[in-house]
Amino acid sequence: MASGDQIRLLLVEDVPQVAQYVRGLLNAQNQVRLVDIVADGTQVQARIGEHRPDVIVVDALLQGRLRGMQLVKQLHDANTGVPVVVLTVPQNPVSVDPGKGIDEVLSMPFNGYDLMSRVTTVHKAAAASNEKAPSRLIVVFAPKGGVGKSTIAFNLGAAAAGLGVKTALVDGSIQFGDLRGLLRAPRDAPSMLDLPTDRISESDLAEVLWRGPADVDILLAPPRIEMAEMVLIRDLEKTLSLMRRLYDLVIVDTGVGLDELTLALLDQADTILEIVTYDATTIRNTIAMAETFQKIGYPPSKVQYLVNRSDASAGIDPSDLRQALGRDPEFRIRSEGQVVGPSSNQGAPFVTAEPNAGVSKDVVEVATQLLGVGAGSRKPALAGAR
Ligand SMILES: Nc1ncnc2c1ncn2[C@@H]1O[C@H](COP(=O)(O)OP(=O)(O)OP(=O)(O)O)[C@@H](O)[C@H]1O
Ligand SMILES: [Mg+2]
Repeated sequence: MASGDQIRLLLVEDVPQVAQYVRGLLNAQNQVRLVDIVADGTQVQARIGEHRPDVIVVDALLQGRLRGMQLVKQLHDANTGVPVVVLTVPQNPVSVDPGKGIDEVLSMPFNGYDLMSRVTTVHKAAAASNEKAPSRLIVVFAPKGGVGKSTIAFNLGAAAAGLGVKTALVDGSIQFGDLRGLLRAPRDAPSMLDLPTDRISESDLAEVLWRGPADVDILLAPPRIEMAEMVLIRDLEKTLSLMRRLYDLVIVDTGVGLDELTLALLDQADTILEIVTYDATTIRNTIAMAETFQKIGYPPSKVQYLVNRSDASAGIDPSDLRQALGRDPEFRIRSEGQVVGPSSNQGAPFVTAEPNAGVSKDVVEVATQLLGVGAGSRKPALAGAR
């Protein structure tokens, strides 16, 4: 099971033996991941912000300043939306009462099956009642440099935001920080290197995100080339998984080539939006890349092809490209230097600066199709996208 599908469990337990027992039961499987064990009830709200758990298990007999059932009530009043399983003993019976935030009860002694069935049941019920569609991670990639990745990532983000989709952009071109340049972000604007390396909380992230043009939050790459090596893949993966919980759509721009970091980004993607153009190098590299993806085990549906500057065929026949891709490309964006150039120079997305331009309409069309946002509707239908 992919880690993205795991149920994230937060355990609130101050008896070490019980905590250890639960940990042992969960070690034997990979459907539920224990993200933390908290012994102090007053710490729970903060840890929820940090870990974004899917389910919380609370010991009804939790001691301390905030006792077990007080905590359950507090969580319910805070409307966290995270279902709670109450752990108790037969001498202290507790009844299921979702109106009071008790979504399930697990009575000692219990085994792995009892624990798993409670956790998965409340998770399923919460997921079903949560009308928010799952988030989508799109990584914009190209088998060749300079084909328009950064331009498209940025404008696609702006188009999605304009369609009412809560969107964040990540500058995955770690060395050159393309988005920093393209968006004219100030040199001292924070970057992913300003995030803590161990645990990243929602507030840490909020502090480093840069609110760029067109209502898109942007996680910038480091400001200098030599700082790129300080970005750890593990940290970036953690950050992306947190961002997926906070945004409907996360778009990642990538640098040139297929290095280890880019590969990690592609692994995490729901969709790889591969930008191609009509030129011989692209065609050759696209074939090589498709073979690589196949070897890695990516299903063909994970990659969607976008022909940029699709009206500039540069002597290459569209059928050659189709043959190289093994299918018709999903999307096309025309070349329109007089719109794209000036907007890039000003650090503004052309989709909002020049909404009536052909190239802007093309990008909005890509966003609409890619995200399954119905024409005329502002409600994103991202469900089923993963
Ligand atoms: N559809 C388009 N019409 C006109 N110009 C375009 C279009 N798409 C991109 N460009 C221009 O092409 C150039 C390269 O674009 P961009 O920097 O986005 O490419 P990239 O793939 O991110 O490059 P790199 O590989 O260096 O990261 C820019 O000058 C951009 O303005
Ligand atoms: Mg770029």
